[in-house]
Amino acid sequence: MAWHESTAALGTEIITLELDPKMIAASRRTFDKYRLNDRIKLIEGPAGESILNLTGQFDLVFVDANKDGYQDYVQKILNRKLLSPNGLILCDNSKPPHRTRRHPRYRGDVLTRISDDQSLLAA
Ligand SMILES: C[S@@+](CC[C@H](N)C(=O)[O-])C[C@H]1O[C@@H](n2cnc3c(N)ncnc32)[C@H](O)[C@@H]1O
Repeated sequence: MAWHESTAALGTEIITLELDPKMIAASRRTFDKYRLNDRIKLIEGPAGESILNLTGQFDLVFVDANKDGYQDYVQKILNRKLLSPNGLILCDNSKPPHRTRRHPRYRGDVLTRISDDQSLLAA
């Protein structure tokens, strides 16, 4: 909803990828209730597969799903040239706070590779 609201003046197209049937149903209910379907498209299924069917270029990609998929998602986005020339990829919690670094949810080595990749840093 926040993305939709904040891009009202631009008429930005928003695509969201979701795997969990409960989240899909809740999202669809919300989109219907607040009439957000004009610019939001929800693609059901695993993000790693859905990305392969995306076309065009995106100014902003917000990655906020399973942490162990982040590297795959970022790599596929870049390989498929889905990011516009001045586009930005935001990865939520890609670098865990020190105290949670060993938590299995965070594959520190993979995430560190993403966050330490100088070619992925914004100027
Ligand atoms: C932290 S929530 C995202 C919340 C969302 N960014 C928001 O602001 O409403 C993470 C979501 O990623 C979804 N998810 C987890 N693994 C996924 C995958 N492999 N493909 C697609 N979605 C996935 C989960 O079902 C969950 O809804």
